[in-house]
Amino acid sequence: MTQKKRILTGDTPTGKLHLGHYVGSVENRLALQDEYECYFIIANKHAFTTRADRPDDIRTSVLDLATDYLACGIDPNKSSIFVQSEVPAIDELTFFFSMLLPFNRVMRNPTLKDEIRDKGLGDNYPFGFPLYAVGQTADILAFRPELVPVGEDQLPHLELTREVARRFNQMYCGVDPQTEDKDYIKAGGILPIIQPKLGRVHRLVGTGGPGPDGNLLKMSKSLNNAIFLSDDADTVQKKVMGMYTDPKRIRATDPGTTENNPLWIFHETFNPDKQWVEEMKEAYRQGKVGDVACKRKLVEVLNSLIDPIRTRRREYEKRPDDVIDALRLGTQKANRIAEETLAMVKKAMKQDYFSRVLSLS
Ligand code: TRP
Repeated sequence: MTQKKRILTGDTPTGKLHLGHYVGSVENRLALQDEYECYFIIANKHAFTTRADRPDDIRTSVLDLATDYLACGIDPNKSSIFVQSEVPAIDELTFFFSMLLPFNRVMRNPTLKDEIRDKGLGDNYPFGFPLYAVGQTADILAFRPELVPVGEDQLPHLELTREVARRFNQMYCGVDPQTEDKDYIKAGGILPIIQPKLGRVHRLVGTGGPGPDGNLLKMSKSLNNAIFLSDDADTVQKKVMGMYTDPKRIRATDPGTTENNPLWIFHETFNPDKQWVEEMKEAYRQGKVGDVACKRKLVEVLNSLIDPIRTRRREYEKRPDDVIDALRLGTQKANRIAEETLAMVKKAMKQDYFSRVLSLS
């Protein structure tokens, strides 16, 4: 029997999942869960980088995220959904890995810089904020995965992860620095040089208009332009009927622009009837079909995607213990691999004095 290859990915619990998460990563995970052994991390410690004063909020977000994963169809008997803070090996690896990265290298990470800018952190961020980037390399390498499916914004973290793995293997496993990334394990390394895998849609726009720079904003809870996988059918309808389209179009008989128009971006992303989309786009450009009709169709399309998710979500909301059980099972499986990796790492670093057994209850 051949061992399935592993995948590790996950999210910081910041609230409920929306359509942007769905096409950016969830869809990918569903497609990969039969072929790979999947680990999905709920990065609750990362949530503390900016919300240390809101532990209740973070706890709610963790459970919401787990519920959303299960509602989307992530099967807890196939894939492991786990809580970061209950996998201690990740923290232990973070400390060791932090010695392999120059401080300035961590601070050059463009994702950190963007976050500092977007969240207006200035110089007022905790020490743990840059540390989370090192922690993310440990989140990943603890599982020695082959693939890491993520959105585009995570690529700098994955590059850092690749650097940590190369350096570790060179320093502690005697791997020649000239070795090609794909050959590190063959050459005696223990940490793979992981590959990112991007989703079908890298950046879904929101339902609102453009930002100050004139470009459409990405879908995000904090921008109030998101359609959540947990929204009820009426809410989906209200959000779609009120969504931003071509502002220059007053009447249905005016020629419309389909480019940079969320209505058409959404149809292209979610409507399985490609022929309808092409024909109606043309009609829209010629002023032969109104916004309202195309929005109604989009409501139908989105609700048929969200309906089964919503139904499963309701079921899990009635049985919160099932969510906890799924997390416990996933976290147990995660600990098995992470402890194994940590033992390998300590051995390579000559710091293997004792062995240990970890158990959750
Ligand atoms: N930083 C990721 C986000 O904000 C979440 C995350 C934490 C993650 N650890 C990870 C993603 C490891 C992929 C792999 O969404």
